[in-house]
Amino acid sequence: MNFITDLDVKGKLVFLRVDFNVPLDDKGEIRDDTRIRASLPTIAWLLDRGARLVIASHLGRPKGKVDPAMSLKPAARRLAQLVPNKVLMAPDVIGDEVARLKRDLREGEALLLENVRFYKEEEKNDAEFARKLAEGVDIFVNDAFGSSHRAHASVVGITDFVPVKAAGYLMKKEVDYLKKAIHTPVKPYVAILGGAKVSDKIEIIESLIGKADHILIGGAMTYTFLKAQGLGVGKSLVEDDQIEVALVILDKARTNAVSFHLPQDHVLASAPEAGASVKVVETLPFPEDMLGVDIGPKTVSGYAAVIATAKTIFWNGPMGIFEIDAFAQGTIGIAKAVAASNAISIVGGGDSIAAVKKAGVKDKISHISTGGGASLEYIAYETLPGITALEK
Ligand code: 3PG
Repeated sequence: MNFITDLDVKGKLVFLRVDFNVPLDDKGEIRDDTRIRASLPTIAWLLDRGARLVIASHLGRPKGKVDPAMSLKPAARRLAQLVPNKVLMAPDVIGDEVARLKRDLREGEALLLENVRFYKEEEKNDAEFARKLAEGVDIFVNDAFGSSHRAHASVVGITDFVPVKAAGYLMKKEVDYLKKAIHTPVKPYVAILGGAKVSDKIEIIESLIGKADHILIGGAMTYTFLKAQGLGVGKSLVEDDQIEVALVILDKARTNAVSFHLPQDHVLASAPEAGASVKVVETLPFPEDMLGVDIGPKTVSGYAAVIATAKTIFWNGPMGIFEIDAFAQGTIGIAKAVAASNAISIVGGGDSIAAVKKAGVKDKISHISTGGGASLEYIAYETLPGITALEK
């Protein structure tokens, strides 16, 4: 894979795919600009060397229609505050006006295109749309690690129409860290997987069974695993159609050298809401009128003891409904245990990142991935469509 520093970009029209899919508040203001800041080294490097820079991203899931609430205008304003260069906002993604703006771009100037997902062709990886994106472009740079699990036109299709392709700094940093975790993990390797759904994590769990020494499970997917073992979980969230899958995973874990840990105690609530009545239980079945909302304190200390032995840690997904303070102790406890360890620690996924921030330990994590789905898929498949396209 080419890296931008291998290239001469002066005067060239460079198309840079970034992941500016940032959270916005009700007023359309950016709540967290981490993803914009994460691509600044690449943007600055290209602009400083005289690239004429076209920047593209998606924001949200507008499903192929123009939706002003998902415009990239707030991202353009934020970028203009973060770089000294001129930053223009395009009114569209393709078309005559955009072609003119691209042509008139000067060295060291940036043009942010509108949300590429305003066109349904983007997600379909439509070749004609990709060709239009590539019009006049000399170099394609992918710095959108967080979007590279999507085989979309601005990530994959465009690479067929641009002669030179390279990865940006963020892409390289993400891949370097994750590669280390996959190919040469320093052992013991502890994977912590939370979140609601077994169905989102099947591939990653299966791939980790062959690689990790310990897999620690938390979040609502716990209850699918417990129900699969015939245990009553009250009103807890369960994916009934994943019971068979959960059984296969439990079986595989037994026949492999991995220690597969399920929580030993649980925080139950009468409803998934602040103010609901709460109790901690160790034994099952759960009362019929309660649901699991977090891992319990005994599980936190058990998991923390395993985490303390780790040399490599990968964490994706919260341990409970951590947005509600009463159900956040499990996730915060795990975040603190990861932060206290001397291991190489990689945290991926918006919720897990929010959790390490909430626990105040963000600076103690070796690598916070800007990709949620992307980091999981990279660990499971050891590449992503956007990376393969760059290597073609
Ligand atoms: C993300 O937020 O994980 C990426 O920006 C990808 O977004 P998507 O899940 O809508 O494709």
